[in-house]
Amino acid sequence: MTTQNKKILITGGAGFIGSHVVRLFVKKYPHYLIVNLDALTYAGNLENLKDIEPQPNYLFEKGDITDEARVDELFHKYRFDGVIHLAAESHVDRSILDPLAFVRTNVLGTACLLKSSLAHWKDNMNDKLFYHVSTDEVYGSLGATGFFTEETPYDPRSPYSASKASSDHLVMAWHHTYRLPVMLSNCSNNYGSHHFPEKLIPLMINNILNDRPLPVYGKGENVRDWLYVEDHASAIDTIFHRGRTGEKYNIGGFNEWKNIDIVYLLCSIMDKHLGRPDGASAKLITFVKDRPGHDLRYAIDATKLNKELGWRPSLQFEEGLEKTVTWYLENQDWVKHVTSGDYQKYYDRQYIKR
Ligand code: NAD
Ligand code: DAU
Repeated sequence: MTTQNKKILITGGAGFIGSHVVRLFVKKYPHYLIVNLDALTYAGNLENLKDIEPQPNYLFEKGDITDEARVDELFHKYRFDGVIHLAAESHVDRSILDPLAFVRTNVLGTACLLKSSLAHWKDNMNDKLFYHVSTDEVYGSLGATGFFTEETPYDPRSPYSASKASSDHLVMAWHHTYRLPVMLSNCSNNYGSHHFPEKLIPLMINNILNDRPLPVYGKGENVRDWLYVEDHASAIDTIFHRGRTGEKYNIGGFNEWKNIDIVYLLCSIMDKHLGRPDGASAKLITFVKDRPGHDLRYAIDATKLNKELGWRPSLQFEEGLEKTVTWYLENQDWVKHVTSGDYQKYYDRQYIKR
C-alpha cells in the first residue's frame, strides 16, 4: 500500500499489541487518519493510548466488530482505505473456559469486517488493503526440532487457535473468491508494556512484586518464541506498506525460551530491582496442573519477511525484559486499574479453585 493520505481503521487498538500499532502509525504517519474501533472488553483500555489521544490524526470509536450495522456505519462515515485487524479474544486459558466468545469475536467479527470492506471497496479495489493480524498458534505444536514456515499446514489445537485459524481461512477466502486485497501475518509470543497480566510474563512480574506464588504449568518445559511488542508493530508497518497482496508472512523473534527459564530470569531481574537477595523470588515458583492440550513448542521461521522486506527484530530478549520490568514497576497505577474488578474473579477461577 502506498503512503499517500490514508484513512485507516485499526481494530482492537485499545489492547496490548493494538495500542502499540496505533501509537506507531499515529506518530509515523501524521498525514493518515487513524480510527481505532474497540469494544473495550476486559482487555481493552483507553489508558493505553493516553499519550496519543490529543493527536489530530487519531480518533476512537467504541463498537463491537460483530455488529454489522456499526461496522458499516463507520465505513460510510470515514471511507477507509485500509484495515489493520487486531481485535480478538486472545487468551488461550480463557478460550478453554468460554470457547463461544472466541468463535463470536474471532470468526464472526472477522467475517463482518471482511463483508463491509468488500461492500465499500468492490467498485475500486485500487490501493485498498485488509491486513489481518494472526498468530503462530494456527500451525499447532512442534516437537523438539523444526520451525513453522508459511507453508506449514494449519493444525490448531485450542479453541483460541482454532478460531484464529478460521479467521485466517476467511481472509484468504475473501481474497480468492472476491479478489479482496488482503495480507496476513502470523506472529509468535509478544511481550512488553501494557500486556494484560493474565499472560505469562506480566502475570509473573505482578506476582513476584506481590509475593504471590508463581504458577508454572506442568513442568515448565514448554517452549515459546518471544518478540518485543514494538518489533511486532514495526513488522506490521513494514508488511502493510511493502508486502505483496494475497501473501502471508511469519513474524518471530528468533528467540526460543522454556517457560521455566523465563520465570527464573524474571525472578533474578526482579530481585535486583526490588533489592531482594538473589534467589529470593524464585522461592515463589509453584508447579501447577498443566493447561489442557498444552502445545509443547512454537518456533517461527521468519526468513521470508527478512529476505523479502529486510525486517529483523531490534531488541535482545534480556534488554527487552529489563525494559518491560521497569515499565511495570513505574506504572503500578495501570496495573491496579486493570487488575481491579473482574480480573480477581478470573484469577481465582483459573488458579485458586482448580
Ligand atoms: P488483547 O487481548 O490485549 O487485545 C484485544 C483487543 O480487542 C482489546 O482492546 C479488546 O477490547 C478488543 N476486542 C475484543 N473483542 C472485541 C470485539 N468483539 N469488538 C471490538 N473489539 C474487541 O490482544 P493482543 O494480545 O493485543 O492481540 C492482538 C491481536 O494479535 C489478536 O488478534 C491476537 O490474536 C494477535 N496476536 C497476539 C499475540 C500475543 O502474543 N499477544 C501474538 C500473535 C498474534
Ligand atoms: O504464540 C502467540 C500467542 O501467544 C498469541 O496468539 C496469544 O494471543 C498469546 O496469549 C500467546 O499465547 P500463549 O498461550 O503462548 O501465552 P501465555 O502467556 O498464556 O502462556 C505462555 C506459556 O506460559 C504457555 O506455555 C503457558 C505458560 N503459562 C502461562 C500462564 C498464564 C504458565 O506456565 N503459567 C501461567 O500462569
